[in-house]
Amino acid sequence: MTGSVSQMLPVIRTRSQSRSSSSCSFTDMDYSDTKQKSHHVLSKLLMAAVLTAFCVVILRQPPNFSAPNPFSRREPGVTHVLVTGGAGYIGSHAALRLLRDSYRVTIVDNLSRGNIGAIKVLQEQFPEPGRLQFILADLGDAEAVNKIFAQNAFDAVMHFAAVAYVGESTLEPLRYYRNITANTLMVLEAMAANNVKTLIYSSTCATYGEPEKMPITEETSQFPINPYGKAKKMSEDIILDFSKRTDMAVMILRYFNVIGSDPEGMLGESPRPELREHGRISGACFDAALGIIPGLKVKGTDYATADGTCIRDYIDVTDLVDAHVKALDKAEPNKVGIYNVGTGKGRSVKEFVEACKEATGVDINIEYLSRRPGDYAEVFSDPSKINRELNWTAQNTDLSKSLQVAWRWQQAHRNGYAAPLAMAF
Ligand SMILES: NC(=O)c1ccc[n+]([C@@H]2O[C@H](COP(=O)([O-])OP(=O)(O)OC[C@H]3O[C@@H](n4cnc5c(N)ncnc54)[C@H](O)[C@@H]3O)[C@@H](O)[C@H]2O)c1
Repeated sequence: MTGSVSQMLPVIRTRSQSRSSSSCSFTDMDYSDTKQKSHHVLSKLLMAAVLTAFCVVILRQPPNFSAPNPFSRREPGVTHVLVTGGAGYIGSHAALRLLRDSYRVTIVDNLSRGNIGAIKVLQEQFPEPGRLQFILADLGDAEAVNKIFAQNAFDAVMHFAAVAYVGESTLEPLRYYRNITANTLMVLEAMAANNVKTLIYSSTCATYGEPEKMPITEETSQFPINPYGKAKKMSEDIILDFSKRTDMAVMILRYFNVIGSDPEGMLGESPRPELREHGRISGACFDAALGIIPGLKVKGTDYATADGTCIRDYIDVTDLVDAHVKALDKAEPNKVGIYNVGTGKGRSVKEFVEACKEATGVDINIEYLSRRPGDYAEVFSDPSKINRELNWTAQNTDLSKSLQVAWRWQQAHRNGYAAPLAMAF
């Protein structure tokens, strides 16, 4: 706009100059031409007047460079959500869903584990001003966090950012407490200081530890058995204590094991190669099917379960992000909602492997190993509270179908979010 105003001015000036030269020639006019010529001159004068008026209107319009940043002001009818960890697996899917539902989204991520490629996909899909902005920042950096909150008008925060590998947490516990617990405290402080009152928090079934009774309800006691689960439980406690003193609207969602990807194929799960050894079962399964790793290592076959392998509740990421949108919609001041987000059905690792073979069509090589430290035998949810209160139910409960969707993305992105590998013909 600034450019167009400055480009228009010389054009208008040229026209007004030509008008003044015509008005000079008016005095020299032959009387016989007077009527026709005066009509001609009048139309030129009229044109000049219109152009002058047009020019004045344009100059009166505020130039674009002074237009306020849409992310920095609240706008009636627009909900601006801060998605921390939005370059990661679940956060990027949540951002996509929010954008599809017309929310305004700011993603903050330090890209320690997420992918700039996921951000690019989102930016390509939603290029319009005021829809999506990405801020590269570390949530452990108090100055950066405070600045982000001070400069943006958030209505709500979905706090996904975290290191999130059980095995890694047993090796690097301090990293987990700092990244998960200390950073959540930082986000809460920034929310309080900047009057942001709605928080949707990514928690985990790992906060329950290994309860004796299945399924797990929200009332099941929380005795986490690894630093990851403990760090998340501490964050929950901090949030709950703080919420008692404020009118915050809080939703704590305890996810079970997340699988799948966007059915439209925009996004997928693409952990860093160096995290593969700690990785989740779906990633390992696809890597084995793609031939990136020689086979799948099933850790632990002597658990007290029907086939000796661990039992988990696998929730499709599309259902999970739907739970977030419903939680955001139902969040109320002075209220805390705590919900399990799972299917309610436990599946063994062996069952998962069979579903993976079916989805990929590859006869994956399986190696059976001893247990992984920090793992628990059986975990599955009772999702009746979230069914009842948020009207949410998992829709995508066919393991093989969820894996098929994810497999399509994996096949189309053999190099993850990086530039596609050169094809040899
Ligand atoms: N994947 C699961 O099965 C599962 C299950 C239960 C809970 N969760 C929770 O869901 C959330 C998202 O998990 P995910 O699987 O998408 O993990 P992910 O690693 O794919 O994404 C996490 C994102 O957070 C970012 N991040 C980490 N530390 C950061 C920091 N200090 N500052 C800014 N950004 C930072 C990473 O770069 C990454 O993009 C986590 O809180 C995790 O604990 C995940």
